[in-house]
Amino acid sequence: MLVKFWKHIFIILFLFGIIFLLRNITYENWTIYSMSTLPKFLNWNQNQSSRLPGRHPLFHHNRTFCPHFGQPPSREEEMEEQVLLDSIEWPLLPSGYARPSLSQTSDPAHSLFKIISKIDQRWYVGDHLEVLVHLHDFKGRPKRYGGDFLLARLYSQEHGAAVVGQVLDHKDGLYTVRFPLLWEGSAQVEVIMVHSSEAINVLHRLREKRPDRVFFGSLFRRGKKTKKTACGMCLPQDQGALCNYTDLHSGEPWYCYKPKKLGCDNRINHYKGGYLKNVINKEEALLFQSGVNVKVPIHSSSRDTIDVLPSKTEMKDFSLKTQQNVGPRIAVDSTHDILLTYRCHGPPIRFTNVLASELRYIANELDGLAGGPHTVVAMSIWSHFSTFPVEVYIRRLRHIRKAVVRLLGRAPGTLVVVRTGNPQALERDASLYNSDWFSIQLDVVLRAMFKDLDVILVDAWQMCVAHGQPHNIHPPPAIVKNMVDLMLSNICHD
Ligand SMILES: *[C@@H]1O[C@H](CO)[C@@H](O)[C@H](O)[C@H]1NC(C)=O
Ligand SMILES: *[C@@H]1O[C@H](CO)[C@@H](O)[C@H](O)[C@H]1NC(C)=O
Ligand SMILES: *[C@@H]1O[C@H](CO)[C@@H](O)[C@H](O)[C@H]1NC(C)=O
Ligand SMILES: *[C@@H]1O[C@H](CO)[C@@H](O)[C@H](O)[C@H]1NC(C)=O
Ligand SMILES: *[C@@H]1O[C@H](CO)[C@@H](O)[C@H](O)[C@H]1NC(C)=O
Repeated sequence: MLVKFWKHIFIILFLFGIIFLLRNITYENWTIYSMSTLPKFLNWNQNQSSRLPGRHPLFHHNRTFCPHFGQPPSREEEMEEQVLLDSIEWPLLPSGYARPSLSQTSDPAHSLFKIISKIDQRWYVGDHLEVLVHLHDFKGRPKRYGGDFLLARLYSQEHGAAVVGQVLDHKDGLYTVRFPLLWEGSAQVEVIMVHSSEAINVLHRLREKRPDRVFFGSLFRRGKKTKKTACGMCLPQDQGALCNYTDLHSGEPWYCYKPKKLGCDNRINHYKGGYLKNVINKEEALLFQSGVNVKVPIHSSSRDTIDVLPSKTEMKDFSLKTQQNVGPRIAVDSTHDILLTYRCHGPPIRFTNVLASELRYIANELDGLAGGPHTVVAMSIWSHFSTFPVEVYIRRLRHIRKAVVRLLGRAPGTLVVVRTGNPQALERDASLYNSDWFSIQLDVVLRAMFKDLDVILVDAWQMCVAHGQPHNIHPPPAIVKNMVDLMLSNICHD
């Protein structure tokens, strides 16, 4: 489907005209294609957790670390902090499970995943693959609560392709992993348990209660007298006087114990004291055994590989029985709610035959657009002006520019893309009508006239000159793909 999508825009871009791309693309849907990353994964967990009945407590954070040592956050900062902390909430162990024995904890070797089958057992590019992961304990009993930390990927060595799966915690020992299917051919699932929920519980306690597990110090010296003392962001105040090294500019707190016979100004250095040992007990240590319950693959109960078929959804291009280059043309992607329309610009359009009723000036088309954050307008107008004095082009662009300003004024968020001209092959008499010299002069004018506007420039000129391929008025697919990629990067920037 995506391939078709490229192809279509590709057709449109090397013609001359304007494109309206109405988009209604959810953030979710596009992040799936752009490979989800950890924060997304956490967010997904978090969102699901807020939907499910709260059978067990979640981590709640409502305190600033060592509030008496730093500057209090503003009301706004506090609210932001709360939102950020809420977004990484992770399920705690249910009450009654706080001190599990190893045998009751998650064991990847006893756990399994299963590809959720489809009625027809066929997967297509553009679909999703879902995998159900069922965690068991060391005695093989199904787990009844969630909170395990899993990572999953779908990959193909052969195709050199891979994508991350989004993990959904059902909080009953079951997890669903969802992968977007982005390539054709074989795809293998890999699920690993990074930590059991019981181990996460320990890590949470350590993070909140033992920030001293890496400790710091400073050397103080005056003359021959030296002394080392402990330092940190937050030190107990009942164990001696403190030197306050809080940064005056940013307010970042830092303190050291003051040596009895030396001053705070005698601090020579800052060093890492080391890693505190024995921060967990023997039973807890069993939860952190590499190869046993830290980063261990979970196996499949049946197969772990599928064969992905070519996309079956296409951008459907409606035949309006019009000439390809003249248009108007319409294409619809109902899966992603995208409507694409195309038409050529008005006179002096140099196509053999355009119906008088279909002649449109770009400025008028722009004035007829509602616009808004779901609308993208792409235009390309230069080549058919190469036989006129430059003033003609300037006047045309002046009208278009005014219409763009009106559009952006009434519908902020509309994305306007302007494609520049490009060099071409100059065989036979082509120079006399379409020399690159005509084009580059128009190009300079185009850039200057749109430079102060909030529009995206697709620099076809540079792409084509820099590229090794022969110059062509309709650039080769590799270059068109670059142009489309650039445009899509601006559409999907969030
Ligand atoms: C976008 O899609 C959603 C869900 O399909 C729909 O509710 C919403 O009205 C659409 N928005 C626009 C601007 O079409
Ligand atoms: C979370 O779930 C709610 C309710 O199902 C949904 O409306 C919302 O868009 C979701 N938020 C995110 C960030 O996915
Ligand atoms: C959060 O704040 C409430 C009320 O101020 C308090 O009772 C509770 O103990 C706090 N929780 C934590 C984890 O600090
Ligand atoms: C340390 O110095 C900073 C900056 O002068 C100050 O805001 C802070 O209150 C001081 N800390 C203590 C514990 O006195
Ligand atoms: C993505 O798009 C599909 C198809 O339009 C829709 O069913 C789904 O709800 C959207 N959102 C997510 C998160 O997949």
